[in-house]
Amino acid sequence: MNRTALVTGASSGIGRATAVALAGRGYRVIGTSRHPEVIAPEQRVAGVEYVALDLCSDDSIEGLADLLAGVDVLVNNAGESQCGPLEDLPLDAVRRLFQINVVGPVRLAQLVLPGMRERGHGRVVMIGSMLASFPLAYRSSYVAAKAALKGFSTGARHEFSPFGVWLTTVEPGSIRTGISERRTAYVAPDSPHRRDFETMLAALDRNERAGTPPERVAATVVAAVEARRPKPRYAVGSNAPVVFAARRFAPAALVEKLTHRRHDLRR
Ligand SMILES: NC(=O)c1ccc[n+]([C@@H]2O[C@H](COP(=O)([O-])OP(=O)(O)OC[C@H]3O[C@@H](n4cnc5c(N)ncnc54)[C@H](OP(=O)(O)O)[C@@H]3O)[C@@H](O)[C@H]2O)c1
Repeated sequence: MNRTALVTGASSGIGRATAVALAGRGYRVIGTSRHPEVIAPEQRVAGVEYVALDLCSDDSIEGLADLLAGVDVLVNNAGESQCGPLEDLPLDAVRRLFQINVVGPVRLAQLVLPGMRERGHGRVVMIGSMLASFPLAYRSSYVAAKAALKGFSTGARHEFSPFGVWLTTVEPGSIRTGISERRTAYVAPDSPHRRDFETMLAALDRNERAGTPPERVAATVVAAVEARRPKPRYAVGSNAPVVFAARRFAPAALVEKLTHRRHDLRR
């Protein structure tokens, strides 16, 4: 094995677990963090090289161009988890979310894909979210950003598969990473949505705390990376095989209702 993988957001959660799994499979792994110098020793993964990347900064992204030219596997994992009633979301926050969760990862893909195409091998994995397939109230910006990221991946797949380069999306359900503590939330003090929003948020946090370990997502990423012809989409956690199968047969209105019930929204 002489392949190099770059995992964004490798300081915690799914990104860290993916760095561990890829290093264990023999890849040279480069992990990113906004502040690699402050990653606690116990969070560092032996053998992983850490580099600085802030997806809010074009200069930071372009600064990795030379490194990305030689990368065989890009895992676009870093992301912000944002929530709030649509009418309360500040546009600056929505712009930041799309920069971190969509535009930044897409630019990284643009920087890595030419080298992959020339070498005749490569994998780009977008870490999406099951919420892109099962949209949820008070998560509209996040749902839209993850759907957009999946759209770039599935849309561009057939541009690259003839060259042995595959783009794929992994959609996690509720994963126990502590992301709830880092979630950004926007709700006006007098918002008429406040009660339902807080109900949803409490359920979201509860589901995350009881969620699937990040190592299972990492194993799915490795399966996608090592498949000869990776599928357009993988899903993991939150009973993914059952709920995706049920979605094929259940009416859309019922699927929407059940998604909201899982988050204690009964209206
Ligand atoms: N946990 C879940 O239930 C769940 C479900 C579905 C999808 N996801 C997705 O899975 C991915 C990883 O989430 P996680 O649960 O592992 O959360 P996490 O532990 O909070 O990890 C997020 C990572 O993103 C990095 N990051 C945040 N803002 C960044 C920025 N502006 N520029 C560069 N890196 C940035 C962080 O690194 P630094 O702070 O070190 O920079 C961190 O390593 C995210 O895309 C998330 O949306 C998570």
